[in-house]
Amino acid sequence: MTRSNVRIAPSILSADFARLSDEIARVERAGADLLHIDVMDGHFVPNLTVGPPIVEALRKVTKLPLDVHLMITNPDAFIPEFASAGADYLTVHVETCPHLHRTVQSIKERGIKAGVTLNPATPLDAIEEILRDVDLLLVMSVNPGFGGQHFIASVLDKIARARQLIDRTRSRAALEVDGGVKVENAAQIIRAGADILVSGSAIFSSPDYGATIKAMRHAAQAPRKALRNSAVAARR
Ligand code: DX5
Ligand code: ZN
Repeated sequence: MTRSNVRIAPSILSADFARLSDEIARVERAGADLLHIDVMDGHFVPNLTVGPPIVEALRKVTKLPLDVHLMITNPDAFIPEFASAGADYLTVHVETCPHLHRTVQSIKERGIKAGVTLNPATPLDAIEEILRDVDLLLVMSVNPGFGGQHFIASVLDKIARARQLIDRTRSRAALEVDGGVKVENAAQIIRAGADILVSGSAIFSSPDYGATIKAMRHAAQAPRKALRNSAVAARR
């Protein structure tokens, strides 16, 4: 299957919250494709961040699609609010959804793209039956809760298996990877099969967001081109 270009989603978790709209304007100018918003409830994960009012406020200051990652215990109760706040993607953790099919339908009924995500220790099997119904599969490469953690190297193999599963089931889901993504490991992650890279601290702690995003995209595009060429060669 031909895949579209690599997309980069800065995570605002590492932005300066006192100047959030400036930070967003900067990453938008710097060539971001999506804006990743981490919602944490202090229960599913040991940290608290933002809720629907911030999503609503951000909707007014950017044209970037809002990629909302819900790290909350009861996502079903908040889907309507995040939908009206202007989320473009709503991604739920399978660990929080006993009725995942119902949750995904409830997101899609609101005209929003539905994503599902897995903690590092949750096996891929957990999403196999829903993969054809979702727009996004997010593979966590850190234990969720904080920015600035190290990429868990063993997740590379899971990303590769996720790619195979998406292709084998002919799902249209984009494969997103979140946690510890940097310029230095972008190529490996893309080679394993990712489509979207979430990156927080690597972008927001760099002096020049544009240069960092450009370097990440450059690193990521090389294996992508090689993959495309080998797919063309295989068809011949
Ligand atoms: C972790 C969040 C991530 C985080 C990524 O719980 O889901 O989106 O902000 O930050 P970095 O890129 O610093 O690991
Ligand atoms: Zn996230």
